[in-house]
Amino acid sequence: MEDKFSKIVSLCKRRGFIFPSSEIYGGIGGFYDFGPLGVEMKRNIKDLWWKEMIQNHENIVGLDASIIMSPKVWQASGHLTAGFADTLLECKKCHKRFRKDEIKQNKCPECGGKLTKPRKFNLMMKTFVGPVEEEASLTYLRAETCQGIYMNFKNVLNTMRLKLPFGICQIGKSFRNEINPKNFIFRTREFEQMELQWFCHPKEAKKWFEFWKKERLKWYESLGLKKKNLRAKEIPAKERAHYAKRQVDIEYRFPFGWGEIEGVHNRGDWDLSNHAKHSGEDLRYFDETKKEKYFPYIIETSIGVERSLFAFLCDAFEEIPGGRTKTTKATKEVEILLKLHKKLAPIKVAVLPLVRNKRELVKKAKEVYKLVKPHFVSQYDEIGSIGRRYRRQDEIATVVSVTVDFQTLKDNTVTCRDRDTMTQIRVKIQNLVEVIKKILEGEKVFKV
Ligand code: GAP
Repeated sequence: MEDKFSKIVSLCKRRGFIFPSSEIYGGIGGFYDFGPLGVEMKRNIKDLWWKEMIQNHENIVGLDASIIMSPKVWQASGHLTAGFADTLLECKKCHKRFRKDEIKQNKCPECGGKLTKPRKFNLMMKTFVGPVEEEASLTYLRAETCQGIYMNFKNVLNTMRLKLPFGICQIGKSFRNEINPKNFIFRTREFEQMELQWFCHPKEAKKWFEFWKKERLKWYESLGLKKKNLRAKEIPAKERAHYAKRQVDIEYRFPFGWGEIEGVHNRGDWDLSNHAKHSGEDLRYFDETKKEKYFPYIIETSIGVERSLFAFLCDAFEEIPGGRTKTTKATKEVEILLKLHKKLAPIKVAVLPLVRNKRELVKKAKEVYKLVKPHFVSQYDEIGSIGRRYRRQDEIATVVSVTVDFQTLKDNTVTCRDRDTMTQIRVKIQNLVEVIKKILEGEKVFKV
């Protein structure tokens, strides 16, 4: 299983999904860059989530709050105290630091050295605002996007004339000074979150918690994650986040074991009541019809973009020893097929001239590429044999490969090849865009 992990990491680097940050300077622990394919896939995930929240549900609006806020926000939210700290142990010999929950025996996992006594380490990432680096200008990069939503609870409520229950959702970067970033993009120090804060009457919190838990599990399944690799884990009180009355982690079975990709939390009135207390603003909701004033409860769904992207990649990764085309002579090569959901695939269409040493074919293929490119994220590839190019596209999950061959020059048709079944159909160039649209919408265009 570990092996699968390193194969996926290597694919990500080799094919332009993910690179270590600042690589030419030896990298920096816990930070990654998303390459041309990674950035497309990330955008797809974010767009799909946004559409799910804003268009597929009722009563949810969006927000984009600043990353840096007043440090008072973090004081009130409990993030500057023990609530948002991990227990750290340091090796007295090699000085490497570890999270307590990762230590199995009471010695350094790296060099076997003695460990220090456990102490609390706060995860907030510090920074200074303005030209003077002093205590008064100290603040923090946000550790969760939702605090920006609480800051704007009243603004949004009043400007949008919303009535409970309603939701505010946001996508954005968060930062945590993790003691030990690990497992590639699973635990990093900079990451993106997609968070929904659902405000409801306290008496309805239980019902909405169940509703959102189910909705979120359905979302992953609708994007192809295998049910057997997904689970919802109820978190016992002593392990919950400091703000959570109830917590269910949605976990994925990664090659290194089960890991959380999303948290569903009942935050009760922890945030609004604390911010009201610290700021002096009345953040209660007034129900006009019932003449009732109260702090709404918050049901939160919080998902990490990178973690879900990693889960989608792991789930889609398949190796086929000897390859899929059994007609060609047996080869020892292992083919990789990345069976990502069509909506997640970074490249939708590849345009390939059958050979590159025939000028008319190349010219025609470039025309076809120009035709499809404004409609779909596309790639043009003429290097290597056609079989090799198909495999290269399969490896990066390209949904349709369009080949321009000698028949194209006679009758203006091209072949469209389906990634998963390798089935091919001939399509008139004039209909190509429409046919690809249908394929991407999930219509059964390829007859198997
Ligand atoms: N607002 C609630 C909150 O932030 P969380 O469980 O701490 O809850 C939610 O984080 C999600 O954010 C996690 O399920 C995970 O997907 C992602 N996440 C948290 N810490 C992360 C890290 N260090 N690296 C990558 N993703 C992380």
